[in-house]
Amino acid sequence: MASVPSLASSLHQRLADALSAALPEAGAADPLLRRSDRADFQANGMLALAKKLGGNPRELAGKVVEGLPSGELIDKVEVSGPGFLNITVTDRAITETLAARAADERLGVPVMEKPGTTVIDWAQPNVAKEMHVGHLRSAVIGDAVVKILEFAGEKVISRHHIGDWGTQFGMLIQYLLEHPHELDHKSGEDATASGEEAMSNLNRLYKASRALFDADAEFKDRARRRVVDLQAGDEETLALWQRFVDESKLYFYSVFAKLDMEIRDENVVGESGYNAMLAETCRLLEESGVAVRSNGALCVFFDDVKGPDGNPTPLIVQKSDGGYGYAATDLSAIRDRVGELGADSLLYVVDARQGLHFKMVFETARRAGWLPDGVKAVQLPFGTVLGKDGKPFKTREGETVRLVDLLDEAIARATAVVREKSEKLGLTDEEIAERGTQVGIGAVKYADLSTSLGRDYVFDLDRMVSLNGDTSVYLQYAYARIQSILRKAGDAASAKAHPELALAPAERALALHLDTFAEVISEVAASYEPHKLAAYLYQLASVYTTFYAECPVIQAETPEMVENRLFLCDLTGRTLRQGMALLGIRTPERL
Ligand code: ARG
Repeated sequence: MASVPSLASSLHQRLADALSAALPEAGAADPLLRRSDRADFQANGMLALAKKLGGNPRELAGKVVEGLPSGELIDKVEVSGPGFLNITVTDRAITETLAARAADERLGVPVMEKPGTTVIDWAQPNVAKEMHVGHLRSAVIGDAVVKILEFAGEKVISRHHIGDWGTQFGMLIQYLLEHPHELDHKSGEDATASGEEAMSNLNRLYKASRALFDADAEFKDRARRRVVDLQAGDEETLALWQRFVDESKLYFYSVFAKLDMEIRDENVVGESGYNAMLAETCRLLEESGVAVRSNGALCVFFDDVKGPDGNPTPLIVQKSDGGYGYAATDLSAIRDRVGELGADSLLYVVDARQGLHFKMVFETARRAGWLPDGVKAVQLPFGTVLGKDGKPFKTREGETVRLVDLLDEAIARATAVVREKSEKLGLTDEEIAERGTQVGIGAVKYADLSTSLGRDYVFDLDRMVSLNGDTSVYLQYAYARIQSILRKAGDAASAKAHPELALAPAERALALHLDTFAEVISEVAASYEPHKLAAYLYQLASVYTTFYAECPVIQAETPEMVENRLFLCDLTGRTLRQGMALLGIRTPERL
């Protein structure tokens, strides 16, 4: 991702610039600069460049070394191996660079040079149905990707493509029509209580209407006719349907609130939102020949998509009975998102099991010209949440796990951990409950986001709320410990960078890791891989822990060292806080 250099360039950026300047004939060749264990940085780009320019890589590397400015930035540079450059930077440059970064509200993270418009499809539960563990990942991943992209400067529009249309509504609406008070509310304003009440109303109504549907043939008939009325846009029918949608949204919003996520009503554009486009979508596909009639159904065929019998598996856009399916809606949504919303990137945070559907939908949209060359469409396919037995997560009775139950349990477990640790802090019950919630929800999100998207992971609360290891709790405690040190230093000493000081190895390691924050954010925003941000933060907390063990802060030898170490603590804290916020995780000040 091309970025404007901000005032607070990283060491990485400054070095990359110096390398390019040292070899003007290479043009804008990437020096392939990386952090390295041998020195501070290693540049491997000379190999590819020598190949391109037709020279010897070691010689080329030698020329670069000669061309590099000495002093300020670079302490030492060596040619090694086939033509790598091992570069050590000066302590002064490290501290100065970090100081500039600390002075910047964005911690030196530049905004994209050419931001685009991303429409992201995430958190898409289904109306009149309970949210279960399968809805967790789309919400958690989607929320983080939105935050990361927005921070990087992209314009982001969310779309919650909820399942709010289909024949199942005929039965529900008919039942409600015959039992009008079934969705009335008893409880007051409290969002969680009314959310739960909404779901229990919907559940009760679903069961009762199902029972009647199975037992009473005349009701069954009336329910079927109701589907026809719904599709024909009959006003009374639509009004009842709307009540189901509203009731469900009440419930969804209460679950999202528990997940500490802001879902905006204007972004909830469900399947029904594209109804008016479906007929035209089909007509355009048929007229252009992208789709053809096959046994009455409107189908799109692909050379490389075949069933087990070797026959092609088409994407069915319209069924032979005239009904429109999931694909027609998604194709219409693409037309809307590109044509009306002006998206140049379309993202879909959807279960990997829908991979074939999206492959066919994207390909169809390309053929139809709805996805022009400059627009990319990407599914971020995620793996399954597994139980400890390694199978898709189920309750002991073998039923799907309600998302709310799972979150409540995480909160309860985290609250116990917080309570046990908080004795010294003298937290009130209310504070313990608040932190328990932040730690529990953070634990669930972090376990999800620290796994690369495509992989399955085991939902194991023991591990998730553990104080040690790669968990959000570990990161939250590292943050809280930093805040406690800063409080303790109080007025006696302030955080201040001292570039004149030599750095101890643990200070250098921490500082150099802090320096890469901007690159990590740019990379994660470009590749949609939040797990790399999680890994960065975990590594940050680890190098901080080493620093803290090896370098006394308040007890450091000189007042300047105290200030400089407090400065490192403060910047670490701010970086942790910003990084965690991008993952949707809170960092309590005291824990
Ligand atoms: N509601 C769907 C489900 O629960 C997910 C929708 C995904 N988004 C989309 N544009 N198809 O499986």
